[in-house]
Amino acid sequence: MNRIPFNRPFVVGAEPTNIAQALTGGHLSGDGPFTRQCHQWLERYAGGSKALLTHSCTAALELAAILADVGPGDEVILPSYTFVSTANAFVLRGAVPVFVDVRADTLNLDEQQVEQAITPRTRAIVPVHYAGVACAMDPILDIARRHDLLVIEDAAQAVMASYRGRPLGSLGQLGAFSFHETKNIMSGEGGAMLVNDPALASRAEIVREKGTNRSQFFRGQVDKYTWVDVGSSFLPGEMVAAFLAAQLTEAEAITARRLTLWRRYHAAFGDLEQAGRLRRPVIPADCTNNAHMYYLLLPSLAERTDFIDHMKARDIQCVFHYVPLHSAPYGRRTGRTSGSLHVTEDIADRLVRLPLWVGLDDQLDRVIESALEFFRDQPRGT
Ligand SMILES: Cc1ncc(COP(=O)(O)O)c(C=O)c1O
Repeated sequence: MNRIPFNRPFVVGAEPTNIAQALTGGHLSGDGPFTRQCHQWLERYAGGSKALLTHSCTAALELAAILADVGPGDEVILPSYTFVSTANAFVLRGAVPVFVDVRADTLNLDEQQVEQAITPRTRAIVPVHYAGVACAMDPILDIARRHDLLVIEDAAQAVMASYRGRPLGSLGQLGAFSFHETKNIMSGEGGAMLVNDPALASRAEIVREKGTNRSQFFRGQVDKYTWVDVGSSFLPGEMVAAFLAAQLTEAEAITARRLTLWRRYHAAFGDLEQAGRLRRPVIPADCTNNAHMYYLLLPSLAERTDFIDHMKARDIQCVFHYVPLHSAPYGRRTGRTSGSLHVTEDIADRLVRLPLWVGLDDQLDRVIESALEFFRDQPRGT
């Protein structure tokens, strides 16, 4: 019986050709022809934004934190139920992450608890589109507008998903994507920033290029380039962009294949949800899902541990995350909470993610059958 890993990176086939072309083209540093190709794809996707490739979503978030001009003592509102980079990017600038609970249905930032977390030090709201399902962006954007705050979307998991017909990552002033190998579209490590507010576009380019106006120089807009702002090196080389360009070309096909798998899981666990044995993901009617993740919410930590062990014994890797950031050692040191985080604390112990990758097709029934067997063999509530 072969092992079914949680993730297996999918290679579309054109990556080596693109990389060979980058090698013969002789432009191997950043912002060459393949980077431009990726930027064009992302700008078409977002419809009117400026796209900038980065090394990772972490780098895009760090770039966003600089553009947001947050400094020591400023506050940034975000969910505790997220990846460390969502908070770290702002902590690096001396800001305080203010952790707010998530909604029980989508596990996304609870928009109804955002306003009470705002203080005179608040600078930005960072909604995270968990599992590629949109946060309630219209209420969040409305709160931000009324309080003059930036909205920085952590869309790490959310490329090819939408909210009310608008692509995720394009709704806040800034949006950050991940192209890490665990994501739907990937380049090993990789990421991008969408600059949706034209007022931030020119500075974004400068901060990404070590605080210099080198991009303007390459476009012939200035006759020499120089140090004009703070910055760092956030841009990937052309080999990464060449790989990513091949993947982006297949973004729709990849998403469609993942959605087929996602729907098979969803159908298979419907009866168990009806029977109150687990809870399936919820996709609100105004969101489209990119099938980044299929998870189940089990009744307890003990049952989740048994489930993971049961699947492991059948050579199927299921995993969990996140340790809520407000309870992590560095989160406790640097951040504060606003309101009760009881949904976060409850679901973090009960959520399990099932394998989901392009190519899993023939083995998906084995995953489903093994999972169903667990519930058959495990009387309710033991
Ligand atoms: C919500 C979220 N934000 C940020 C990141 C960081 O992405 P990267 O690995 O591209 O830096 C991840 C990675 O999984 C993530 O899930």
